[in-house]
Amino acid sequence: MAKLWGGRFEKDLTESTEDYLQSIEVDKEMVLEDIWGSQAHAIMLSKQDIISNKDLKEILHWLEKAKKDYLSGKLVLSKQDEDVHMNVEKYLIRGAGPEYGGKLHTARSRNDQVLTDAKLHIRHKILDIKKKILSLQNVFIELAEENLETPVPGYTHTQDAQPITLAYWATAYVSAFMRDLKRLDHAYANVDTNPLGSCALAGTSFPIDRRMTAKLLGFTEVHKHSLDVISSRDFIAETLCALTIHMSNLSKLAEEMVYWSTYEFGILELDDSYTAGSSIMPQKKNPCVAELTRGRTGRVYGALMQLLTMMKGIPMGYNRDLQEDKPPLWNAFDIVGKTLDVTIGMIDTMKVNEERLAELSGANFTTATELANHLVREHGLSFRECHHIVGSLVGELHRKGKNFMDFDEVDKILSGQGVKVSFDEMRNIFDPRKNIHTYKSLGSTSPREVSKMIREFKKQMDSNIRRIKSQEERIESAQKLTESIVSKVLEGKDIGGIKIK
Ligand code: ARG
Repeated sequence: MAKLWGGRFEKDLTESTEDYLQSIEVDKEMVLEDIWGSQAHAIMLSKQDIISNKDLKEILHWLEKAKKDYLSGKLVLSKQDEDVHMNVEKYLIRGAGPEYGGKLHTARSRNDQVLTDAKLHIRHKILDIKKKILSLQNVFIELAEENLETPVPGYTHTQDAQPITLAYWATAYVSAFMRDLKRLDHAYANVDTNPLGSCALAGTSFPIDRRMTAKLLGFTEVHKHSLDVISSRDFIAETLCALTIHMSNLSKLAEEMVYWSTYEFGILELDDSYTAGSSIMPQKKNPCVAELTRGRTGRVYGALMQLLTMMKGIPMGYNRDLQEDKPPLWNAFDIVGKTLDVTIGMIDTMKVNEERLAELSGANFTTATELANHLVREHGLSFRECHHIVGSLVGELHRKGKNFMDFDEVDKILSGQGVKVSFDEMRNIFDPRKNIHTYKSLGSTSPREVSKMIREFKKQMDSNIRRIKSQEERIESAQKLTESIVSKVLEGKDIGGIKIK
């Protein structure tokens, strides 16, 4: 069979043209979505009396067969037929004949069809990524609950700054991932609108019902403006942007895994199953999973740039450039999904060296700020004056090779500046285990504050899980509705009485 659009052509495409135009590799992800979209469209056409019941029955019979053949590997998309839409339609026309099969494309264009397929597919992909992020959050919450009082050094400039807790560090990731989830939710809302019925760009003179196809496909609303929806790929940019920012957070985490697991830091050991060896140095255990996470972040950023560059300067209306929207998105979904899988396992299995953490968290004068705070409260001095007193104390101790735990020396130097701090007070300030309890401000590192935040995060996680569930249920029930109508039609039953609103 010749090209379905071949009527006005006198010559065939060259083989290389055909190859250049086709999008089979990318489109094969959307075969089932293409069939579902076609079923919904055909049902709507018949309910609106645009095609007859007999037409509908033939069309649905062959679409069902296409689905079965695709799932059993008998229907393989061919490059000659350019894309998934042409492949499925051609299968239908071959089976049902042009007098029936040829009616499916009434009041439809590949322009609204490709958007429909992509949106159905992206909805499901976003929900998958969200579920993985929630699993990773869960691992961090468990780590936090077990380590509410485990002190770790907190860093600024990758230099020891102030003692914090492992729970505080872990919940910082939970907190960041909450915003990643929000961004994905926002993207989802813009994905979840029905483009079908926009046709090529202008809508149609047929009395179609776009709300009906929205219902059959589980879209929350109709994307009304046909020219706008046909031209829009911002929902893909938004999804990619959310994935990109999430990947940058995963990369930040990966970076910490890389240097925290060095011999020099010795804060944690990654499980063997998330590392790799060296072909020459027998002793090596390299954090390759974390390194590749950092490395692949570039690919996800690249995907966003690829899409934004493609979108730039495209006029209103469908332009073939838009076919280039899916490869970067599929790529990003793939990388982010796989990165999440290994990251969940890597964090879940890593061993934290508590002794080393205790040693590091109070070392290198990390409690200096708290000493200055104490002097402000107890000695009525300004913070700037106390900063100076503590700064010169640190300088002197450092020059003498001593530290805050040398209480006699600390006392001697402070007394010289007219300041008295008892040994009991020193213990409270300089011991990181005690120090962390002195924090009071909202969102600070104290176990009390962190416990409160954990409770809030858990609630937010639960509400995310509930939202995903209801979105999945909405999709499933739309699928079931379509399937039940398909079965009725195939059994020869009348669907005239069924209200699809
Ligand atoms: N393969 C195309 C894409 O992904 C489908 C739409 C083609 N539309 C057209 N008018 N040629 O964008």
